[in-house]
Amino acid sequence: MKYDELKKSDPPIADLIEKEIKRQQHGMELIPSENYVSQAVLDALGSEFTNKYSEGYPNRRYYGGQEFTDQVESIAIERAKKLFGCAHANVQPLSGAPANIAVYSAWLNPGDTVIGMDLSHGGHLTHGHPVTYMAKIYNFVRYKIKNLETGEIDYDQLRDLALKHKPKIILAGFSAYPREYDYAKFAAIAQEVGAVAMADIAHIAGLIAAGELKNPFDYGFQIVTTTTHKTLRGPRGGMILTQGKVGNPLKEVEKTMENLPTLIDRAVFPGFQGGPHMNNIAAKAVAFGEALNPNFKDYAKQILKNAKTLSEKLMSLGCKLVTNGTDNHLMLIDTVTSFGLTGDIVEKTLDQINITLNKNAIPDDQNAYYTPSGVRLGTPAITTRGMQEQEMEQIANWIVEAVKNRENENKIEEIRQAVQELCLKFPIPSSK
Ligand SMILES: Cc1ncc(COP(=O)(O)O)c(C=O)c1O
Repeated sequence: MKYDELKKSDPPIADLIEKEIKRQQHGMELIPSENYVSQAVLDALGSEFTNKYSEGYPNRRYYGGQEFTDQVESIAIERAKKLFGCAHANVQPLSGAPANIAVYSAWLNPGDTVIGMDLSHGGHLTHGHPVTYMAKIYNFVRYKIKNLETGEIDYDQLRDLALKHKPKIILAGFSAYPREYDYAKFAAIAQEVGAVAMADIAHIAGLIAAGELKNPFDYGFQIVTTTTHKTLRGPRGGMILTQGKVGNPLKEVEKTMENLPTLIDRAVFPGFQGGPHMNNIAAKAVAFGEALNPNFKDYAKQILKNAKTLSEKLMSLGCKLVTNGTDNHLMLIDTVTSFGLTGDIVEKTLDQINITLNKNAIPDDQNAYYTPSGVRLGTPAITTRGMQEQEMEQIANWIVEAVKNRENENKIEEIRQAVQELCLKFPIPSSK
């Protein structure tokens, strides 16, 4: 049986794992950056590849015994290239933040400028928020949404900033933006000022791989970074995809856009990381194989249909959504306008009915990040469980009912039981 050995050797940890599995089975995961991996991905992640050191790259390692690590990493690379249509993939970044940092260190000198999306408008911490260490090394300038009712980016502001600051990277990417970018406009501005066009597709990688959202490479981007554990439904990890000439990662090359694949490889190892986590790379390979399967397209389509239905139902129940809807897998409720409550209170209330989402800033939020004016939610995980439009309508009803009745213990318990009952009808993949 699963975890039998662990139960004998370390009961407290085995007990916590069991409790976490139960929490996941009995609850509804609406955090848009989370998902449930398959048992096959978990198997690869828990495999003996975890025992192996393999500094370097396939066929160019600094340790012996690499006949199988080389093969597994090469398979992951080839599958990633096929999924995203690019010349090169580095599958070694330990997660999304290290992937972005590796790109900065590959292409920038200290003091160089990057233009990224403002955090409260949807950007990510690693795109230059002042609290990050990267912000001490590089100069980050921010663009924003122009029209908060439609979500349209202020491309005029972006171009003005680019002409003024002469950035080395223009970065398109987000963790909390419910619309699609106009990648061609980003790429044209980057080209005008001689910057690299970089997209961080961490949230939407699965939707792009499935062909359901636009692929930045089709619009002239040179670098794409991503996590592998969100809509792509793999293990926790990162990846850097590039166009350009693939060279020997052990040899120094000139800093040109053509040489980006080699510059990136050298920045990941030995520049920034040590030995790759081969068990994780094996699990990435399995997840990429799953994403190449035609049924992954159906999954991606359903994520989008579910998000549309959930957002429309929430709005019909009186919720104010940032940009009034969504074109992807996520949405943000302005909880102050909708309920007169900050996001932390809504998050805690929904925790009580086994629905998990996260408090989140809304554009130009006047409240602090710990008590912001909104919550962020999305459909990748519940779609993996097989939930569809009908369940989305029910979930929207429960969210609004629970928040409005948050002081009524009986009502909260009644909704919690209903949520749990529904969840048990849609098991998580690893417990099927
Ligand atoms: C757009 C974006 N980039 C990078 C990251 C960082 O990824 P990780 O938490 O795996 O380091 C995230 C995480 O949420 C993200 O949303």
